Amino acid sequence: MADTALPTARPRRSRKPLKLLFSRSRIRRRVRELAAEIRRDYQGRTPVLVAPLKGAFVFLADLIRALDMPLEVDFVRASSYGTGTKTAGRVALTDISTIDVSGRPVLLVEDIVDTALTLETIRRHYLARGPADLRVCALLARRSALDAGAVVEYLGFAVPDGFVVGYGIDYAERYRHLPDIHVLEGP
Ligand code: IMP
Ligand code: MG
Repeated sequence: MADTALPTARPRRSRKPLKLLFSRSRIRRRVRELAAEIRRDYQGRTPVLVAPLKGAFVFLADLIRALDMPLEVDFVRASSYGTGTKTAGRVALTDISTIDVSGRPVLLVEDIVDTALTLETIRRHYLARGPADLRVCALLARRSALDAGAVVEYLGFAVPDGFVVGYGIDYAERYRHLPDIHVLEGP
């Protein structure tokens, strides 16, 4: 019997071609370097690491294990309106955090800074709560965002334009599980 005759057969979603951008070993090395820098800068303090869900969760998980220092973890829910590969220009922030950050050092942990709209929205939200200081650690940031003045104190890699996936970063909820970071190619 042909596959297509099976009553449970579902149409296959097309898979776009992926081009390797950063291998898992390169990511691991860079995460260790970032962790060493952060550990040195926060010596004697217990920072609150705040990550927007969901894209940053894999990076955060690796970063905190590489940090090996006293720290706390919290999350916010951030989503830019719109679908596909374009930001719609507005960020919806849902505060699901449980830690009072007033007087505490806060480190925002982002997966990718694209237009920096998400970052700026979260930064404003957290600055209003009176942290001791607030810095940003991003695994990836667009060169265009950095050129436009986005402040990222701890940066993994600067990336050119092109939609990236893997290592927690999705396209329409897919590809988060890939251990390496790729550029999604095709229309
Ligand atoms: P921004 O607000 O434009 O800086 O976009 C930040 C968020 O958009 C990131 O945290 C990602 O969730 C998503 N994003 C931006 N660029 C990409 C990409 O190339 N691949 C996957 N997600 C992206
Ligand atoms: Mg996303």
